[in-house]
Amino acid sequence: MLASLPLISDPNLIIGLERAEDAGVYRLSSELALIQTVDFFTPIVDDPYQFGQIAAANALSDVYAKGGKPLTALNIVCFPIKTLDRAVLKETLRGGLDKLREAGVLLIGGHSIDDPEMKYGLSVTGVIHPEKVVFNQGAKPGDRLILTKAIGTGVIATAIKRGAASDEVIGEAVKSMAMLNRRASELMMAAGASAATDVTGFGLLGHAAEMIENTDVGLVIHSREVPLLPGAVEVAKEGFAPGGLGRNRDYRQHMVDFAKSVPEYLQDLLFDPQTSGGLLIALAPERAAKLMKDLKNAGIKAAVVGEFTSNNKGKISVV
Ligand code: CO
Ligand code: CO
Repeated sequence: MLASLPLISDPNLIIGLERAEDAGVYRLSSELALIQTVDFFTPIVDDPYQFGQIAAANALSDVYAKGGKPLTALNIVCFPIKTLDRAVLKETLRGGLDKLREAGVLLIGGHSIDDPEMKYGLSVTGVIHPEKVVFNQGAKPGDRLILTKAIGTGVIATAIKRGAASDEVIGEAVKSMAMLNRRASELMMAAGASAATDVTGFGLLGHAAEMIENTDVGLVIHSREVPLLPGAVEVAKEGFAPGGLGRNRDYRQHMVDFAKSVPEYLQDLLFDPQTSGGLLIALAPERAAKLMKDLKNAGIKAAVVGEFTSNNKGKISVV
């Protein structure tokens, strides 16, 4: 929407609204740039403490995706003050605060309003060296694509809402969504990445598409290498599709070719909108090998899910 409005430009603006990026980045000096981002949404799990943790991990993720270090955060709260128990809000805020503490980020304020539907999230501010910012485009032919978390949170959240997910499935999905992308980001910066983003609402293929849209590179995704959360295949096969899944497919299908061997449920999962998903990192093969080793040593279940090509420019081929 904003693209059609007259935006203010500034020579110190490193990332603004002109492109699909995870966060805004503004140069303060030759050594220091500011990273800013905001994210909030309605509860996706029943436990308010877990929801708070997930919302905070998700809000921090856009700073990690750019290779930055988050420093401070502001709460954003919409809450039906007359109808919902205040203990729910307290637990949500406690979950968020605990996650910020784990990330070494200070909560320094926030804003709340009365709203019939609860929502929670944060605005996060971080820092980075202006020359070290990792953009979501910049992958080169031959680069590998690494994904640092399993996918399937959208279909699982839909199954949770309809009471059709087991405690075990819920537990694994919550653990994944509440996990910070902090360590993955630090290891990415140490390995040296060509490009990166995080997987959220547009799904794996939607965010992968942002990495190559209108560029000179193509992308091959090896669908069977993509890590899937326990239970994701079963609920996808049962047809628990969130509304965003179909929209994601409609939006990007002109960029994506599926091999006949890729089953429909797997195509669905590749478009499944994720909450607090992993990082998608592009890097040269030898760097990718090092990063995979480092991620494994850090206990992060990452996988090489594809590679960038010089042909098939601006398109994704899923095999
Ligand atoms: Co993002
Ligand atoms: Co975001």
